[in-house]
Amino acid sequence: MSYENAWLTYRMRQDSRDKKYFSKVYAEDESIVAVTAVNELERAAREIMGVRMEQAGCAAEAGICLRLVSDPAIGEEGYQLREEEGCITISSEGARGLLYGSFALIRRLQMELPLEGLCMLETPSNPLRMLNHWDNMDGSIERGYSGNSFFFKDEKVIVDERTRAYARMAASVGINASVINNVNVRGNATKLITEEYGKELREMSEIFAEYGIRLFLSLNFAAPMELGGLDSADPLDGQVAAWWKNTMEDIFGRIPNLGGFLVKADSEGRPGPFTYGRTHADGANVLADAAAPYGGIIIWRCFVYNCQQDWRDRKTDRARAGYDNFMPLDGKFRDNVILQIKNGPMDFQVREPVSPLLGGLTDTNQILEVQIAQEYTGQQRHVCYLIPMFKEILGFHTYCCGGQNTVADIVSGRTWGQKSCGMAAVANTGNDDNWTGHDLAAANLYGFGRLSFQTDAGARELAEEWAACTFGNDRVVTETVTKILMMSWPAYEKYTAPLGIGWMVNPNHHYGPNVDGYEYDRWGTYHRADHLGLGIDRSRQGTGYAQQYRKENAALYEDIKTCPEELLLFFHYIPYTYRLKSGKTLIQHIYDTHFEGAGDVESMDILWSSLEGKIPERVYKRVKERLEHQKEHSKEWRDQINTYFFRKSMIPDEKGRQIY
Ligand code: GCU
Repeated sequence: MSYENAWLTYRMRQDSRDKKYFSKVYAEDESIVAVTAVNELERAAREIMGVRMEQAGCAAEAGICLRLVSDPAIGEEGYQLREEEGCITISSEGARGLLYGSFALIRRLQMELPLEGLCMLETPSNPLRMLNHWDNMDGSIERGYSGNSFFFKDEKVIVDERTRAYARMAASVGINASVINNVNVRGNATKLITEEYGKELREMSEIFAEYGIRLFLSLNFAAPMELGGLDSADPLDGQVAAWWKNTMEDIFGRIPNLGGFLVKADSEGRPGPFTYGRTHADGANVLADAAAPYGGIIIWRCFVYNCQQDWRDRKTDRARAGYDNFMPLDGKFRDNVILQIKNGPMDFQVREPVSPLLGGLTDTNQILEVQIAQEYTGQQRHVCYLIPMFKEILGFHTYCCGGQNTVADIVSGRTWGQKSCGMAAVANTGNDDNWTGHDLAAANLYGFGRLSFQTDAGARELAEEWAACTFGNDRVVTETVTKILMMSWPAYEKYTAPLGIGWMVNPNHHYGPNVDGYEYDRWGTYHRADHLGLGIDRSRQGTGYAQQYRKENAALYEDIKTCPEELLLFFHYIPYTYRLKSGKTLIQHIYDTHFEGAGDVESMDILWSSLEGKIPERVYKRVKERLEHQKEHSKEWRDQINTYFFRKSMIPDEKGRQIY
């Protein structure tokens, strides 16, 4: 088995400035997580400082001291790092805080930041910081772009060294929960909740526990029928409720470190409460009641929409579905239910407005779901650093209340005082040596973890950190890599579908341009282009979607003049000759951005080429190869989109460039 260490690739430091701290460590806590923290510090001392770190007999002898303190300002997962008189103290109310503090210290070592006089306090923004893996039991990964699963193979659960390496990586950036199987639970995956896979899952969860991570499973709503032989999965049927009660008792007994379950119900063909005329609250609550005695959480996804639409129908709007389905249920879910809401109302496009459920719901626990698996953003063959997008989403003002009303406020629990909430990312990992296929895609994994821990962190700052930890602290390298990362999402947006319209991809696999690929299909994903213009009217005159927002945002989106231009085509049908704020017509904007975007990729490739010799050759070549592909592929995007709209509009490019 071969795998690399991503951002935990340690390099021996050439200076001896901070060696003194690393000769002895003392930990006041002996819990399993604190032991992990000490082991991690020892490893870093050995591999970065070249020091064999010993355990001190008391705090006074130690250069690093892990202390459990009683301080609500730090909390159980927060930490304080403080250097005083030759000793670095890592303090927290809990062992997980000590572990995160240790990793933060190691990060500083990797980045060669001074330790003397160090004084910092960090507390996690979000209670839950989750990865959602869409791994199947045959080893494939739904929307996986970096090899096969390292959790499953041939219908078996894998527990090996890589399990620990995974948990270590995840914990190093503050992840504290992981769902290991696909939300589409089929075949043997339904049986993950039975005894059959109990032993392996328990072993895996114990490894996760060493790193303070709770194991979650996706479950099949129809399990009472498929496994229990019942003739219904009706959540209000007593037999069904009893079956869930027994099942939960068994599984939480077998796997003490189980956090709970993620459920995709009544969505894209998955079973759910609608079959029985019940609501999603009925569906979630029956599971929640069964899991409650064990502290179990039910995470219920809001990705519920009609996927059997007719493209001729202009009234049904998929964007409305999440809100229409879940808003009436606000306040009806048990305390241990969390609704998991995709960032946008559609499905992880390169640009979408924020889901109106975020800011709509006031009395329900919420998790923001983002996708770092780059399903629609270049499938880890294109560089597309998504943290700037996530920052915009988190910073979005919902106006749900006068004060703390951003998405970051809501999902952290600050707005409505909730404790069960946070952020989840559809993960981008697989068993490729470098974990993420594209080496630069690891910045999304790193960035998501760090951002979910600290939503105030900047996208650029996280890119720099990641680059320094991954490639070493050469300023030219970190600056160049950061530049490429920061250019990448805007570039991708420019050369693909314009101004928030999305979806101009090949159906099914979702890679590469196909303007009409979804235009006459059943998925509710249209651009409605004709010879005069394009876009969807989602104002009052159209589908009314804009009115799902609080009044400030509803007014903004409703009006063409105030609608943010990057979302113009999402909300409005716009003539090609319409003048944007830049003074350009819509059609000229489409042409220009597509030429620019493809040009940006050429610049990214040149920037990367300048790093030859400064980055390990294997990594350099892997990225170079992908950038070469991205360069060609972005031209394909440019030419197909520009040609399509030229042929529709017959308006020539003002700059006379070649359009086919
Ligand atoms: C998208 C994706 C599916 C996935 C679904 C989901 O539609 O293409 O593969 O199952 O999202 O989030 O459930």
